[in-house]
Parts: sequence; structure tokens; C-alpha cells
Amino acid sequence: MKLIVCENYEEMSKEGAKIIAEQLKNKPNSILGLATGSTPVGMYEELRRMNAEKEISFAEVTSYNLDEYYPLAPDHDQSYRYFMNTNLFDHVDIDKSKTFVPNGLAENPAEEGKKYDEAIANAGGIDLQVLGIGQNGHIGFNEPEDELYVSTHLTGLTDNTIEANARFFASKADVPTQAITMGLGSIMKAKKILLLASGKAKHDVVTKMLDDRITTSVPSTLLKTHADLILICDKACLNG
Ligand code: PGA
Repeated sequence: MKLIVCENYEEMSKEGAKIIAEQLKNKPNSILGLATGSTPVGMYEELRRMNAEKEISFAEVTSYNLDEYYPLAPDHDQSYRYFMNTNLFDHVDIDKSKTFVPNGLAENPAEEGKKYDEAIANAGGIDLQVLGIGQNGHIGFNEPEDELYVSTHLTGLTDNTIEANARFFASKADVPTQAITMGLGSIMKAKKILLLASGKAKHDVVTKMLDDRITTSVPSTLLKTHADLILICDKACLNG
């Protein structure tokens, strides 16, 4: 694992964007794995700037997002499809028909998961996967459990996660209790992984990323076995 420590959130965001820009310069038709949440918002903002100033182009990019609430319509303002449109896709030269997010209204979520993994494999696999990290070490919606899933699947959200995400909904009762998420195997198949973490609240979990142990009770630790993992964090996160 390569660790990059930045002064603050803004620098972390720029550093992340730089790595994506490099990826797109080396391979303009990259398959990107993208993430939602508050952490990558600044990075997407920097990517929008780079695109507007013609430093990078998304014209040939295909993207697959990590997860989506279930059930939730793509045009709901808390859906991850809506998040991606408003934070990135609506503002850059990406072909939206080549941007994919699990279907939060799929009639058969198990089938949706299977098809999603097949589509990624048929596209050639993810070149660069962007990830945030939950305070409990969740990656996507792969929550701490004795057993984790390899493939994209429907999963229940823990009370912790529902609580953490309730701030975005009218009330806690409005937060969907399930999601379709890429599994740890789907994520680990990416050729390169970019993990972003910022702020004191992630200090404990980032500390667990820096020792030599892995455990399904902190799903992010499994990423340590990946051959090309970059962790970018800021000083507040590293030092607590
Ligand atoms: P956050 O969420 O970026 O809003 O902290 C990360 C996550 O829960 O995966």
C-alpha cells in the first residue's frame, strides 16, 4: 500500500484528482469505479475544474458506481445516481449512457447484481476504483460481518449507517434500509484502488489500515491485500 498524507481536505481532494487525471492521460478510455459520500465531493469539484480547463477529458470514459440505495428511484435527490449527476456527470464531457449505477428499482436485485458484475467484466474490468471509507471500515455497503460477499448483491444497512445517512433525508424513517453494493471481490478486481479518508472521525479506522492485520470486522482492511492500493488521507485523519 502506498500512503500519501496531505495537509488538509482540499489538498487530499487535489491529490486524488491528480491520480485520476494521470489515469485518464495514460488511458483515455479508462473504466472508472466511482464512489459517493462526502469525502470525494472536493475531488469531483477539482475534476470538474480540470475538465473545464481542458486538462482532462472524460469523453471516452466508462464508469461504474459502487452502490445504490434499494429501493430508490434514480431521480430521487438522495439516490447515488442523482449524486453522481449533480457532482460530476452533468458538468463534464462524459457520455452519460456509459455511466452505470446499480438500479435501485431492480425487480430482481440478485439478477441485477449478477448482471452488474458481468457488465464490468465484459467492459474489461475497472482500471481505477475510487473508495471512501466508513468509520466502521465499511466499503461501499459492505458492513462489518463474520462473512462478506464477493459479488455485487443486495444487503441490509446497519443501524449505524442508517443513523449516519439520516442527515440527508427528511427523517431517519425515510432512509432506505437496503442497498445494492459491489462486493469485496468485485472491488478487489480493480487494477488500481484509490482510497480517500479525511478528518478525525476516520482516525481509528485509518489506524487499522496501517498495521499488518486484516479482518472482516473492518472490511476496508481486506484492501491491504491488493497489489496497487493508494491511501490518501489528511493530517487530521492520520494524527487524530
Ligand atoms: P463519507 O462516507 O465520505 O460521507 O464519510 C464514506 C462511506 O461511508 O463510505
